[in-house]
Amino acid sequence: MKHSTVDLRSDTVTQPTAAMRAHMMNAPLGDDVFGADPSINELQEKIAVMLGFEAALFLPTGTQSNLCAILAHCERGDEYLVGQMAHTYRWEGGGAAVLGSVQPQPLNHSPDGSIALSEIEANIKPDDAHFAKTKLLCLENTIGGKVLPMDYMKAATKLALDHGLKRHLDGARLFNAAVVQAANSSNSPLAEAKRIASYFDSVSVCFSKGLGAPIGSALAGDKAFIARAHRIRKMVGGGMRQGGFLASAASYALDHHVERLADDHRLAKQLAGALAAIDCLIVEPVQSNIVFVDVKPEAKEKAAGLIPYLKAQGVLATGIYRLRFVTHLDVNEADINYAILCIERYFNL
Ligand SMILES: Cc1ncc(COP(=O)(O)O)c(C=O)c1O
Repeated sequence: MKHSTVDLRSDTVTQPTAAMRAHMMNAPLGDDVFGADPSINELQEKIAVMLGFEAALFLPTGTQSNLCAILAHCERGDEYLVGQMAHTYRWEGGGAAVLGSVQPQPLNHSPDGSIALSEIEANIKPDDAHFAKTKLLCLENTIGGKVLPMDYMKAATKLALDHGLKRHLDGARLFNAAVVQAANSSNSPLAEAKRIASYFDSVSVCFSKGLGAPIGSALAGDKAFIARAHRIRKMVGGGMRQGGFLASAASYALDHHVERLADDHRLAKQLAGALAAIDCLIVEPVQSNIVFVDVKPEAKEKAAGLIPYLKAQGVLATGIYRLRFVTHLDVNEADINYAILCIERYFNL
């Protein structure tokens, strides 16, 4: 029997569950540009409390949320310190520079995804007319599926604070990080999410990734910061009127889809374990729901045909010589076993 499509391209590909759809259809609505959408207001309050901030703002995308955060922390001619591979530097179209005249200062990552404290410190510019004014440190957690160590976040954000910088976290997958931290402690994932958030002045979270909502992000911070971000969101067209349909999906995801991220992590590890047994592949240690696999040089020719072969078998993934597989709400154990079988079969052909 043919297996249904197994889409491992990203955790953004999920469909809302039947229960989430029912919840959305029953959401009370109003015009959010007047601040009158009860479902958006409820979500904003819920996520602010959950992360220990005064206020939060619902936005259509993580990109817009990060943009509003950077522009609310910085002014024209300021700069933010950010990792070379961070979404807020590499994958957001240069928005902060294009739309806000805020310059990124990209920094190299250590293998665990962090940025060395010495690297951060060395790049905080003195008050000198030659330099842009360093105003903000942006971190990302998880980053490339890696969970930033708690002690590192504490130290990096303290260093930034000691130099008068604001601290923003792109926590698109904050709850994945929190679930991993919780598994290594006696705390709940929500307690760990709050602990991570406590090191930052602002946090952006996405509901449309591992949490399985169709769309939506939230930015949390203090009231004055959120008021500035709200103005910027309006400017970039992010006021969504009866957006409560979408906020209610996010709210449902927070209530029902956080703890289950542990299943995604378990399946990612299962996939990684099986792929590590294939001779020509080098599998990066997996911490959350993203599996990166490098193809050894001698197998590059063979590997070039893998993604099209998998597609023909109904398994979707990305990359050529560095492959990426992401587990999520719409992937179960049978799907992962099927994907493993197809990959093994391809390399044994
Ligand atoms: C770490 C990270 N931050 C931000 C975003 C941006 O989210 P969106 O696609 O909703 O703009 C993504 C998207 O994949 C992401 O992976």
